[in-house]
Amino acid sequence: MQIIIAKCKEEFDRIAADTVSQQIKDKPNSVLGLATGSTPLGLYAQLVERNKRGEIDFSQITTFNMDEYKGLPKDHPQSYHYFMHKYLFDEINVRPENINIPNGEAADWAKECAEYEEKIRAAGGIDLQVLGIGHNGHIGFNEPGTPFEALTSLIELDKRTIKANSRFFDSIDQVPRQALSMGIKTIMQSRKLILMICGRDKAEIAYKAIKGPITPEVPASVLQLHPFITVLLDQDAASDL
Ligand code: F6R
Repeated sequence: MQIIIAKCKEEFDRIAADTVSQQIKDKPNSVLGLATGSTPLGLYAQLVERNKRGEIDFSQITTFNMDEYKGLPKDHPQSYHYFMHKYLFDEINVRPENINIPNGEAADWAKECAEYEEKIRAAGGIDLQVLGIGHNGHIGFNEPGTPFEALTSLIELDKRTIKANSRFFDSIDQVPRQALSMGIKTIMQSRKLILMICGRDKAEIAYKAIKGPITPEVPASVLQLHPFITVLLDQDAASDL
């Protein structure tokens, strides 16, 4: 596990963007795994700028997002489809047919999950997966207690996740209670990972994920077992290490 502590938010975003850019330069037809949430917003802004400046090319890139709320239509402002298009996909030269996000409105969940796994396999697997972490240690929407062997599945969101994500909705009642998420095993099968952690409020979980016991109660702790993971923290998130 490589641990990098960025001096400031600008450096944090730049290092994350350098990691993704390098992956794209090394392998122009890379398969990228992507996350939503506040943490990667600066990364996506940098990727957009670099793409507009002609420094990186997404024309052969395939993407797989980790998760989507159950029941939210693609054009709902809080859906992860909407988020990804707004902050990244609509601003770069990725081909629409190469974008993959779980379908929050799938009629048959088991089928949607199995097909998502199959699509990842058919694309050759994920080369670089971008991850954030929840206050409870979730990665994707794999909440505490999720078995490490889990593949893409329908997840019951934890109370703490619903509360944290209610900041984006008008009220907590509007936050979906379920989501479709790539499994922990799916995430661990990625060739490389970058886990991004920022903010003082993430310091305790950062410590547990990086230095604590490896346990399903802290889903991100499984990442200690991955041979090619970079953990990128800002100084606040690293303050308990
Ligand atoms: C979202 C995802 C989640 C977030 C996590 C942190 O696609 O995978 O695991 O990374 O909830 O969210 P933020 O960055 O908003 O603190």
